Amino acid sequence: MTSVLVTREIFPETIERLRRHFEVTTNEGDVSYSPAELSARLEGHAGVLVASGERIDAALLEAHPQLKAVCNMAVGYNNIDVPACTARGVLASNTPDVLTETTADFGFALMMATARRIAESEHYLRAGQWTRWSYDLFTGTDVHGATLGILGMGRIGQGIARRGALGFGMKVIYHNRSRLPAEQEAPIGAEYVSKEVLLREADHLVLVLPYSASSHHAIGAAELAQMKPTATLTNIARGGIVDDAALARALRDRRIAAAGLDVFEGEPSVHPDLLTVPNVVLTPHIASATTRTRRAMADLAADNLIAALTGGTPPTPLNP
Ligand code: DGY
Repeated sequence: MTSVLVTREIFPETIERLRRHFEVTTNEGDVSYSPAELSARLEGHAGVLVASGERIDAALLEAHPQLKAVCNMAVGYNNIDVPACTARGVLASNTPDVLTETTADFGFALMMATARRIAESEHYLRAGQWTRWSYDLFTGTDVHGATLGILGMGRIGQGIARRGALGFGMKVIYHNRSRLPAEQEAPIGAEYVSKEVLLREADHLVLVLPYSASSHHAIGAAELAQMKPTATLTNIARGGIVDDAALARALRDRRIAAAGLDVFEGEPSVHPDLLTVPNVVLTPHIASATTRTRRAMADLAADNLIAALTGGTPPTPLNP
């Protein structure tokens, strides 16, 4: 029987479904595999269901010529070398669409929590420091009517833009590899601008672009210096897009007002300087984490794996 590896603990029902087709090796105890452990565990498996923390590169594929399908339980796929998969006839897939609205909800919530200093003020209250009402206690920045800047206007970026424009009367400006068609810009009044204008004019900048060599440190010291001192920065995309050390300095020096981060360079490690500045909201890569959406992601990843290894048509391939 064909065997597959599932590198993370996922819904038992999804595992049961996979067991109807394959011999399934699961990750007992949900431990994080090092690259060497992942390679050892892949031995003899024709397919693998991975999460965004596991890297599937050319060397790993070379070492496992039996591998025929790599199915990511994430929409972002910077952890998979898709051209290397294609060159070896390995199906690669991701989980688009099913997480768009959930992730946009979270991006908007993190931006609001950042602008209105929700985490910082909650820590203050829990620490017993609240003694009286004060006119300037945790004053933040308005979200309604402000300028929302979006870097990366894919499906999730558009979801955040809709929430801002239609729900909060925000002016939406964006920068992206390509401009949206007019019929997509019009309902939300989104204006395509250069990256420089985006940095300069956004009151709240949200990063939703894919990670690649060209987006590595797209936001570093030089970019942070161009932002308004009252601006907030929210990153729900991928760690390496922001230079976390430069961001920690900018937050400490109040070069920008605040940041909300769901993703980190080298996660699950977090740059120690970010842990010492108060004006940052830190969450552990949970933007898509509602039970319903995580279930849909697991099911879609399983659908891809089953189709790829049983002669079907994978629903969301990266290399059709
Ligand atoms: C995604 O789907 O890309 C999320 O960031 C989870 O990894």
